Amino acid sequence: MLVFPKWTNGIRVVIAIVGATAPLYVVLLVAFGASPSATDVGYQPVQPVAYSHELHVGELGLDCRYCHTTVETGAHATIPPTKICMNCHARIFGQSDRLSLVRQSYAGGMPIEWVRVHDLPDYAYFDHSAHVRRGVGCVSCHGRVDKMDESGVYQAEPLSMGWCLDCHRQPAPHLRPLDAVTAMDWAPSEDPLAIGPRREAAGAVSPPDDCAACHR
Ligand code: HEC
Ligand code: HEC
Ligand code: HEC
Ligand code: HEC
Ligand code: HEC
Repeated sequence: MLVFPKWTNGIRVVIAIVGATAPLYVVLLVAFGASPSATDVGYQPVQPVAYSHELHVGELGLDCRYCHTTVETGAHATIPPTKICMNCHARIFGQSDRLSLVRQSYAGGMPIEWVRVHDLPDYAYFDHSAHVRRGVGCVSCHGRVDKMDESGVYQAEPLSMGWCLDCHRQPAPHLRPLDAVTAMDWAPSEDPLAIGPRREAAGAVSPPDDCAACHR
């Protein structure tokens, strides 16, 4: 008699889940597949103000957390309110045309309508703090933001499910010391997988690959 070994129970669970989600998959493809441009690598919408990360981060050396204040503590990174810009721009280039919308926004109390670049579908759950506090750097997911100029931020990575899972299954090469999470040009001094402490760090983090972790 053919007896299936115990581990095949896992396969049956997977088949059951795939079976149960296949109709959902079709619905989702129909609903979202028609507008793929918003999730493509290279997507770079025109922004209302020609703000340059290259200038403010690359040249002036501002840390990401000066503006994206909740990135270590919350699910969302937040786009800075105009008040943060005015910390400097109340004085610097007070008359510049390129800052007129910033001044109007501040005077009128209306937020600047920045166009969203990265946007996961609502059915996928993502939390910044869970990543940043475990030593995954911004650059792993957003690319060299410090080289993105006044044409705006663009999407550097696919943000697809396969992309999330590639890292979740082998996080070690993507981990770095916590004090380097916002550093854009940090690089391990050796082959990341060859370094003992980093292997240990990799063992201490176990990113989930079960469906319910990301689809709640
Ligand atoms: C002086 C403030 C400031 C600093 C410092 C700053 N940013 Fe930004 N960031 C902004 C503003 C304003 C926007 C919205 C405009 C845009 O998307 O270009 C933005 C947008 C972004 C976006 C796109 C958000 C979206 O809509 O998906 C990413 C990603 C980002 N920043 C990452 C970073 C990283 C990484 C750093 C540090 C290396 C950083 N930022 C430093 C102000 C800042
Ligand atoms: C820590 C100070 C500081 C903060 C905060 C800051 N900026 Fe700036 N910004 C500067 C400096 C300094 C320059 C000029 C750099 C140069 O040309 O040498 C500048 C230049 C600019 C320019 C180009 C102005 C021109 O006429 O060329 C724009 C647009 C701009 N900033 C937008 C913003 C926005 C939007 C924010 C908020 C999200 C912001 N800045 C926050 C310091 C700051
Ligand atoms: C593991 C990947 C990953 C890392 C690391 C990461 N981000 Fe993100 N970021 C994303 C994803 C995915 C989104 C889209 C989130 C959504 O649509 O809900 C996003 C969105 C953003 C946004 C838009 C606002 C928001 O929260 O949706 C900003 C700003 C941002 N990230 C900045 C940063 C900064 C700054 C860092 C480093 C301190 C960072 N991110 C690290 C994946 C990452
Ligand atoms: C570059 C590597 C990397 C990428 C890309 C990445 N993750 Fe993660 N993820 C991690 C690490 C590391 C952890 C922390 C695991 C731990 O704490 O043990 C984690 C943890 C998580 C968790 C569990 C923590 C929580 O908030 O419940 C979720 C959910 C998650 N990631 C979702 C996503 C999604 C969705 C994407 C794609 C949009 C993504 N991740 C992309 C590395 C990554
Ligand atoms: C690490 C996070 C993560 C895990 C684990 C995960 N997903 Fe996803 N999933 C995502 C993200 C992010 C998207 C959105 C992709 C996009 O916008 O292109 C997605 C999209 C989907 C879609 C929509 C269609 C598609 O392919 O884009 C289905 C269906 C789906 N996931 C099912 C599953 C099932 C079933 C599992 C378990 C076997 C699972 N997911 C595990 C992050 C995850």
